[in-house]
Amino acid sequence: MSIEVKILEGSDKPAMRGLIQAILDEQGLQPQFYWPPEMLNPEILSCESVGTYIQGALTALILYRKLPHAWEISLVASHPRFRRKGHLQVLLNHLIAAKGQGIELWLEVHEENLAAQKLYEKLGFREAGRRAKYYKDLGTAILYTYSG
Ligand SMILES: CC(C)(COP(=O)(O)OP(=O)(O)OC[C@H]1O[C@@H](n2cnc3c(N)ncnc32)[C@H](O)[C@@H]1OP(=O)(O)O)[C@@H](O)C(=O)NCCC(=O)NCCS
Repeated sequence: MSIEVKILEGSDKPAMRGLIQAILDEQGLQPQFYWPPEMLNPEILSCESVGTYIQGALTALILYRKLPHAWEISLVASHPRFRRKGHLQVLLNHLIAAKGQGIELWLEVHEENLAAQKLYEKLGFREAGRRAKYYKDLGTAILYTYSG
């Protein structure tokens, strides 16, 4: 089955909301992935987004904003049924290829979200700092950058 990388648009929004809901159904509303509809909907509207599809199903997505010298990633998620299949790796590599020289990628992750940290480190993101008491549970945020 081939993975299709797609720039997400208006017609993809129900699938985007469905993917996030599937994660909330699986793990609940946790500080490390806190995307209730009232936060998610404006984020989807105001961000650029890219996703992977397999046979018509949205399997993973990234929301991000383009700033002058960096693309700031705000949401990274794969559907629980499509984990560990490399889809997020494909999407992050897509952004790395698309951003051009001189543009950095920025994102933050909860210190307890080890799966996400492994993903970013595998792709060459480096820790750039920490923000204490950043999340609702007072957990620390690790800031990662990619500047290849
Ligand atoms: C973290 C998350 C985005 C990873 O997505 P994914 O589609 O499973 O990631 P990929 O299949 O592309 O994984 C690529 C690499 O990431 C790392 N990785 C991913 N999940 C991992 C896990 N559970 N444990 C350890 N390493 C993991 C591995 O290095 C993996 O490569 P490998 O399979 O060859 O070992 C996904 O688990 C998710 O959506 N979690 C819930 C939402 C979330 O926490 N988002 C991140 C917020 S910062």
